[in-house]
Amino acid sequence: MKDYKRILVTAALPYANGPIHIGHLAGCYLPADIYTRYQRAQRRDIKFVGGSDEHGVPITIRAMKEGITPQQVVDKYHTLIKDSLEKMGISFDIYSRTSNPVHHTTASDFFKKLYDKGLFEEKETEQYYDEKANTFLADRYITGTCPVCGNPNAFGDQCEKCGSSLSPEQLINPRSTLSDAVPVKRLTKHWYFPLQHYEAWLKQWVLEDHKEWKNNVYGQCKSWLDNGLQSRAMTRDSNWGIKVPLPDTEGKVLYVWFDAPIGYISATKELTAQWADYWCKEDTKLVHFIGKDNIVFHCIIFPSMLKAHGDFVLPDNVPANEFLNIEGDKVSTSRNWAVWVNEYLEDFPGCEDVLRYVLCANAPETKDNDFTWKDFQDRNNNELVAIFGNFVNRSLVLMHKLCGGKVPVFHAAAVDGDDQQLMDDIQSAKIRITQSIEEYRFREALYEIIDLSRKGNQYLQKKEPWKKAGVENGQQQIDNCIHLSLQLTANLAIFINPFLPKTSSKMLHMLKVVERMLDWKNAGSLKLLREGYALRAPELLFRKIEDSEINAQVEKLKANAVAGSATPKGGEGRLNEAAGIPSSAPQLKPEIVYDDFAKLDLRTGKVVAAEKVEKADKLLKLEIDLGFEKRTIVSGIALHFKPEDIVGKQVVVVANLAPRKMRGIESNGMILMAEDKSGRLHFVHTEDEIEPGATVS
Ligand code: 2FM
Ligand code: ZN
Repeated sequence: MKDYKRILVTAALPYANGPIHIGHLAGCYLPADIYTRYQRAQRRDIKFVGGSDEHGVPITIRAMKEGITPQQVVDKYHTLIKDSLEKMGISFDIYSRTSNPVHHTTASDFFKKLYDKGLFEEKETEQYYDEKANTFLADRYITGTCPVCGNPNAFGDQCEKCGSSLSPEQLINPRSTLSDAVPVKRLTKHWYFPLQHYEAWLKQWVLEDHKEWKNNVYGQCKSWLDNGLQSRAMTRDSNWGIKVPLPDTEGKVLYVWFDAPIGYISATKELTAQWADYWCKEDTKLVHFIGKDNIVFHCIIFPSMLKAHGDFVLPDNVPANEFLNIEGDKVSTSRNWAVWVNEYLEDFPGCEDVLRYVLCANAPETKDNDFTWKDFQDRNNNELVAIFGNFVNRSLVLMHKLCGGKVPVFHAAAVDGDDQQLMDDIQSAKIRITQSIEEYRFREALYEIIDLSRKGNQYLQKKEPWKKAGVENGQQQIDNCIHLSLQLTANLAIFINPFLPKTSSKMLHMLKVVERMLDWKNAGSLKLLREGYALRAPELLFRKIEDSEINAQVEKLKANAVAGSATPKGGEGRLNEAAGIPSSAPQLKPEIVYDDFAKLDLRTGKVVAAEKVEKADKLLKLEIDLGFEKRTIVSGIALHFKPEDIVGKQVVVVANLAPRKMRGIESNGMILMAEDKSGRLHFVHTEDEIEPGATVS
């Protein structure tokens, strides 16, 4: 391992085109903050930078949707996002914005340097143009059918259904997002960055030198590199963004993914005159926290830009998280299927740490995970209240009851096996917690902390100090038990600080100790609280969350999701809807003839068995009775249905679909499902129950 002198942590710059949701927190802001707070407690030289991404198509589309200017959009959402992050305790050293002059200069200079080195390819190509809106259509200004999965609403840069990265030319039946017009081709000049020149270097740097990166990150990089890299346009035709710093380039701006990551450099410049130490000295550890949709930009494109530039360090790690689904469904800002942070803060005042806890305990660190309100309630009530809070409270209450409100004396000669075990547990927990955080496994670290407090409860339960008054050596046993419980409480305050900073502060207050005690080097010590020291009265760290509060949230989510499909609230927008133009007719797939349809052999069937497929969140393995035979079909419906709820259901099966292996299981056919407006799935079946095997045509 390299010997680093300073650490620079970045968290993805959110587009200032809507509020942030809890998926954003779980994806990068919370892990970045935990890591930063931990490093601060280690007293290492660390800076944590972030800011709003205020350029690019998402902003201009939002402006059109709301009937305001792009500047008004970014002003509004930058303030809202900054406020939400602050209230959630995300402790940036600076939260900047890419509209700041320092960023415009930094990004322009960066571009100019690559240009002067002769690194760009200048190409005039035909690109789609909307004659109604008089504009070229790049990225999300253009939609059409995905050539990979047939999704009729794929964007010009990406299909959100199958995740394929696309260019506008690949879309089938392209249409303008702005006017729904069928676009024409026109010549336009752009500057392309030849990523293929960096392929060999990237293969060495990522695939050989960074084998320690998380599997999900490494795997995505490998697949990009295996597929081969191509030149990528680093400029766009638009009036919103950083102007291309070359003569005669009116109406051309830097591609948002060129300027946004440079925003990390600009923010550091704004933060400190010593910014160059963090960006130019080899003994800086640069860590990018991001969500999985940003992996290619942070592991392939930006590092190639940095390498080409030559003055800057490269990331040491990019610990990207996967996605957090909500109540079994993918987050969709256009469908308003999301839990918005600003709304959470209003609905659960004072419960910031509860959300931090749940999002970390259930973080999508290795795979997509699901947030449910029931799990939120359970984790709060059964873990924070019943284990952690309960232990801290009991220790302080017992100290006031049995030891006169002071830290009792520790009698070394009276230590028994249980006392020793607890002392050992504190020491060994420190080793595991430290290692997990250093290696970006935050949920594992948090689990260790809760487990340590669980051990504290078991210790109290076993020692029963409340029964010891009057027995031989009783006071000594009481003293040792309460003394150790209080030392454990102080240790828990140190351990929990990066995760739940407000909770840790409350604990410091009760223990009447100064913040300096939270230094990580103090963790593991059994001398954090002085004997005879008077402590404050305990206050509850967490409150119970009631069923009614949870039910109200689930109702709100569902009610708003329906309304949301008419008035989308957040970022990505879709088709006409995105431009504020109501869509009257659905987009149909290209016309087919009867013979195409007749090739399908559709049969009625009945689900006779269903079970989850191991290590595949979305898949169910179904046994289908088709009358003439039983079939195994693997279906991607596990996020919508519990296996036990669908046994006995009538279904319609595509019975002559070629077999396909999914997770090692051969699937023989496909079940027809209907997807409603809110994205929920429903089985297609006949009105009356009929024998399995009947033909459907
Ligand atoms: O995906 C996004 O929300 C982008 N705005 C992230 C940018 S990260 C960085 F490069 F600035
Ligand atoms: Zn697709």
